[in-house]
Amino acid sequence: YNIVFVSSEASPYSKTGGLGDVCGSLPIALAAREHRVMVVTPRYLSGGPSDKKFAGAVDLDCRIKVSCSGGVHEVAFFHEYRAGVDWVFVDHPSFHRPGNPYGDAYGAFGDNQFRFTLLSHAACEAPLVLPLGGFTYGEKCLFLANDWHTGLVPVLLAAKYRPYGVYKDARSIVVIHNLAHQGVEPASTYNNFGLPPEWYGALGWVFPTWARTHALDTGEAVNILKGAIVTADRILTVSQGYSWEITTPEGGNGLHELLGSRKSVLNGITNGIDVDEWNPSLDEHIPSHYSLDDLSGKIECKIALQRELGLPVRPDCPLIGFVGRLDYQKGIDIILSGTPDLLQDDVQFIMLGSGEKQYEDWMRATEATIKDKFRGWVGFNVPISHRITAGCDILLMPSRFEPCGLNQLYAMRYGTIPVVHGTGGLGDTVKTFNPFADEGKGEGTGWAFKPLTRETMLDALWVAIETYRKHKSSWLGLMKRGMERDYSWDNAAVQYEQVFKWVFTDPPYVS
Ligand code: ADP
Ligand code: GLC
Repeated sequence: YNIVFVSSEASPYSKTGGLGDVCGSLPIALAAREHRVMVVTPRYLSGGPSDKKFAGAVDLDCRIKVSCSGGVHEVAFFHEYRAGVDWVFVDHPSFHRPGNPYGDAYGAFGDNQFRFTLLSHAACEAPLVLPLGGFTYGEKCLFLANDWHTGLVPVLLAAKYRPYGVYKDARSIVVIHNLAHQGVEPASTYNNFGLPPEWYGALGWVFPTWARTHALDTGEAVNILKGAIVTADRILTVSQGYSWEITTPEGGNGLHELLGSRKSVLNGITNGIDVDEWNPSLDEHIPSHYSLDDLSGKIECKIALQRELGLPVRPDCPLIGFVGRLDYQKGIDIILSGTPDLLQDDVQFIMLGSGEKQYEDWMRATEATIKDKFRGWVGFNVPISHRITAGCDILLMPSRFEPCGLNQLYAMRYGTIPVVHGTGGLGDTVKTFNPFADEGKGEGTGWAFKPLTRETMLDALWVAIETYRKHKSSWLGLMKRGMERDYSWDNAAVQYEQVFKWVFTDPPYVS
């Protein structure tokens, strides 16, 4: 197939979380399976050292004009062919500013709706106008829009192209990595999308009464992700557990009924990981390499990590880690309430993350008061995330919800035992240790506790810590089962291909 991924981030060019990882590695896996694959993503320039990531991309010298937001905006395309994939970078001044793809120290950028509208329009033009390797991708392609940022793509196909006979043979899939963010803005911004007025209903959205901020507020809004859900040919999420959860009132963020109505085209495919970047026997970020056959390097990684972070160097002390965005989603408040009790025990705890200021402040303050047991590294730092994954014994993920979660997969591949809230992809991928199964040899790769409370989290951690201390052979079994698993994209790629096949056997959902 001719596949066009559209995403607000793609690693290594840009990444704030798992979306970047997935859009940086799944396209490569699909290209390796003989598909023609392009990824369309912004050319973010922040004026800092990360700009050099785009240095390999050349200007295709192809400009298009996008009519939206009350004006006509010229965008350019840059291109790099790497690992079998056409990486297409949409260039516009609104992508050139300090900060991350979505905001800076002062919060989210005020014009994100405009920036990602521009990206979506440009992505729809790319297969028609870019002569990549001498040939355009053409009209018969498959668009994969990821999350709300690019949710306008299926809407544009239905509303702007198909009525004029263009993209009759194209299909679209929206991949939901996180339903908590939907691209909701005041209804008056509908005119900014560059869509015909009669398509308002696709994006139109009414807030429930309780969510209105003012008595006179009608709750009228536009919701980009909703537009994608009602126009895409198929809907995918990044784990099966999450694809069910989003059809329930608890997990649906207000869209559960709509998603339920499209259940017959909703599937979940668990993410894979980049097994070259995350490989304990080759990882360039860790001080010693190791594998199942020789685990001695893991202890060296632990010692080096304790030294690097200025913790007492104690190879036998249980070392617990956390890596992630400091966000309500990740259950940071639960960690915060459980940490004083956890640190009563003889353990060490390392957290790496950035996000909500109150949590960053708490990490700094806790580090200052409990110096010999706690480290809070505030920031986004990929090499340190690798060293924590390798050096810790236990990785904690008490996410409130988790569409897939990648850190638990990285942890298992590195022989680090995940202790997670059994929700979404965490519940699907971490099998709780049962010491009595399999003729007494045990089974499972970690602990998935439920429901999410401070007590259940501490209980699960306590069992993990005791197993680490007193049942070395069980611990080794846990490590081994996790390290042996296949985390590559191959499984997922086969499942994606199955969905591609289905999507082309049906006519477009909105023609
Ligand atoms: P989410 O996408 O919800 O943030 P995932 O578990 O899918 O959660 O992916 C998070 C990705 O971002 C992982 O690759 C993780 O290592 C990375 N990450 C998150 N926070 C940091 C940080 N502070 N420093 C480095 N990497 C981070
Ligand atoms: C989202 C989710 C995360 C998932 C990632 C990649 O950011 O929060 O659970 O792993 O996307 O699909």
